[in-house]
Parts: sequence; structure tokens; C-alpha cells
Amino acid sequence: MKKLKANFGDRSYEVLYQKGLINKVGALVKRIKTDNLAVIVSDSFLKKTYGQKIERSLKAAGFKFTWFLVSSGGEKSLSEVERLYHHFVKYKSSRRSAVISLGGGLVQDLSCYASATYKRGLKLVQIPTTLLIQADTNLGGCAVDLPEGKSLVGAFYQPSLVIQDVELLQNLPEVIYQDGLAEIIKYAINADFFDQLEKDFDKLLKKNLSTVEKYVYLSNKIKLNLTERDEHDCRDIRIQIDLGHTFSHALETVTGYRLSHGQALAIGLRAAVIMSQKRGLLSVSKRERIEKLLSATNLPMSVPKTVRFASLMSHIKTDKKCYDNKLVFVLIKDFGRLIVVDNVTVNEVKNVLNQLK
Ligand SMILES: NC(=O)c1ccc[n+]([C@@H]2O[C@H](COP(=O)([O-])OP(=O)(O)OC[C@H]3O[C@@H](n4cnc5c(N)ncnc54)[C@H](O)[C@@H]3O)[C@@H](O)[C@H]2O)c1
Ligand SMILES: [Zn+2]
Repeated sequence: MKKLKANFGDRSYEVLYQKGLINKVGALVKRIKTDNLAVIVSDSFLKKTYGQKIERSLKAAGFKFTWFLVSSGGEKSLSEVERLYHHFVKYKSSRRSAVISLGGGLVQDLSCYASATYKRGLKLVQIPTTLLIQADTNLGGCAVDLPEGKSLVGAFYQPSLVIQDVELLQNLPEVIYQDGLAEIIKYAINADFFDQLEKDFDKLLKKNLSTVEKYVYLSNKIKLNLTERDEHDCRDIRIQIDLGHTFSHALETVTGYRLSHGQALAIGLRAAVIMSQKRGLLSVSKRERIEKLLSATNLPMSVPKTVRFASLMSHIKTDKKCYDNKLVFVLIKDFGRLIVVDNVTVNEVKNVLNQLK
């Protein structure tokens, strides 16, 4: 089995990669020390599809478990986190109990934030089920939204185990699968596998599972490297994960989440690429290569006509990276060479928005 080791001293953990791992959840969770109680956080579709497999495997390993299903319509809100806290109380979760998070980014962020804060920390086992959250698994950080803005409340919190099973993506609707391609392109820009990704992109578009696993693994490897070097986001290293996200988080909020995270990110990456090239940081040819890959995903490349500059701007200013009226963006000098700038002007944002309309 392929593995990555996340090195965080006594909070180190493993990320495991293999098709069909969903059938071995019980034995895998057994490897981390728990009190054999588990809360499975998920949604009704995933429970229906994978519930039997997980239950069978947990029972065989001697676990008692309950299910907590997120509300349909899915809000990543503090009230949903509170509902989960009450479930932990009701089913007597202790600091040794496991929380098994089976779902997309919404389920992962809710369960991570609740696990980080309930009794100051439960044992979190992540089983990501969308391409987006497999590629950009919460390796040590999670956030929930406020009505005023996205991802404003969060925690740095290491899971105890991450189980990556690309077979879970088989039933994923095409539009949700596409969302994940934006995160993979983000990591390919950040690291040294953009050339490889260009060659493999057709296979990735066709959901060839071995290719998918390869890019989930490579993306996780980059994310782990950034988070190990800057766990608490104090050194302009971890922040690179946020390439494209200053713009995309604002877009998600301003459109009332009608754009998905991946759709907004595709546009946000384009914004970062345009800004980087206009500043003379990124060459035109590399801008074109990135835009070509983004457009091959079928994700949107332009901002919906209804988005007004003033409201987008006010949401950009609320972004967790921005401070003291400074607009903070991660920009691109080259593949594998990102920089963080805090001197983006309102006019630059306006010009980029005009190019994206
Ligand atoms: N904390 C982090 O590191 C991090 C990283 C990236 C994204 N996020 C967050 O993740 C969220 C987006 O996550 P998402 O794109 O996974 O969306 P999502 O969690 O909203 O899931 C989208 C839909 O896919 C369905 N689904 C999930 N798995 C499925 C499967 N295997 N088969 C069929 N359907 C399935 C869900 O039921 C849901 O309807 C955003 O809120 C974003 O902010 C967090
Ligand atoms: Zn993201």
C-alpha cells in the first residue's frame, strides 16, 4: 500500500492510498488507539452507498458506532457544528473516541472543526469522497463559514489517520468530479509536476483511477510538505495552499454559493494567473499553458455577469489572509515558485475582474 507519513512529532499520522480501502476501515481505525467508540459523520447518499461496507468492517473490528448525517442542502455553519457537538454528548464520545469523516469537503470541514474543539480534541479519521477533497484533503486545517464570509472560523488540527480510496469516486457526478481538477492544477503549479500533468490530463479527465490516485498522492505530498514546514501559517509557506483562493472565496460568498468551490477556484486561479502575468512575474507562454489546462476541465473561465465589483471587493477584504486594508494574494513567478504579495491595488482587482467578465 502507498503511504505518506505526516511528521508532526507526537501528532504524526499516516495517509494511506489503495483502491478498496473502504472495506478495511475497521482494521485501519483499530491501528490508532481509541476507546472503540466511533461517530461516523457523513450524508444520506454516502450512508446509503457505503454504509453497509463500513458497518460490517467496524463491527468485525469490535467498534460501537453511530451515524451523524449532515443536513441536506448542506451548510458549513456553526449551527451544524453545534448539532454535531450535541451528538457527541448524547453518544458519550470521549477524547479517545474516533470520528470517522466520510464525505466531501463540507463533511470534512464540519467534522474536523467539531473534532478539534469538542473536549479539545477527538481522534479524527478522514475518508474523503470527492476528487476535490481527496486532492486537497484537510491535512491539519479546517474551516467553517459565517454569513459574512467563507472559511472565517477554523482550527489547525491534525487528523489521526487519512484513508484515500479513489474507488469512492466511481459514483461521483461529472460536474463534482471536475471541481477537483482545479485543486490538482493548483498543486501542479505549486510544485514540479505541471509538465507531467499536461501529459496525463486526458487520462485524468477520463477518470482513469490509477492516474487519479497518482495525482491525489502528488497533491497531498505538496500540501504535507507546506504544512509540515509551516503548521500554523506564520511563515508565508502554508499560505501557498491558498493560490487562487482570495478571489475564489469572495466569488463563492458573493454568488451565495451557487458557484461550487471548484468552479470558483478555476476562476480564482485564472485571476491569479492574469495578475501574475500583468505584473511581469509570469511569462505569457506559461499563462497560456495554465489557461489551456483550466479550460480543458470544463470548469467556468469567467465571472457570472451578475457579480458586482463593489461587493466582490468587500468580500476580498474580509478574506482571512487580508489585514489592515492590505489585499493579500498568492501569485506565480514560475512553476514551483509562488510568492505572497500584500500590495495588490483595488485597480488591479478591477482590471482582472473586467478581463474575467
Ligand atoms: N479544509 C480544507 O483543507 C479544504 C480544502 C478544500 C476544500 N475545502 C472545502 O470543501 C468544500 C467543498 O467540498 P466538495 O467539493 O467535496 O463538496 P461537497 O462536500 O459539498 O460535496 C459535493 C456533493 O458531492 C456529493 N458526494 C460526495 N462524495 C460523493 C461520492 N463519493 N459519490 C457521489 N456523490 C458524492 C455530496 O453528497 C455533495 O452533494 C468547500 O466548502 C471548501 O471550502 C476545504
Ligand atoms: Zn480549495
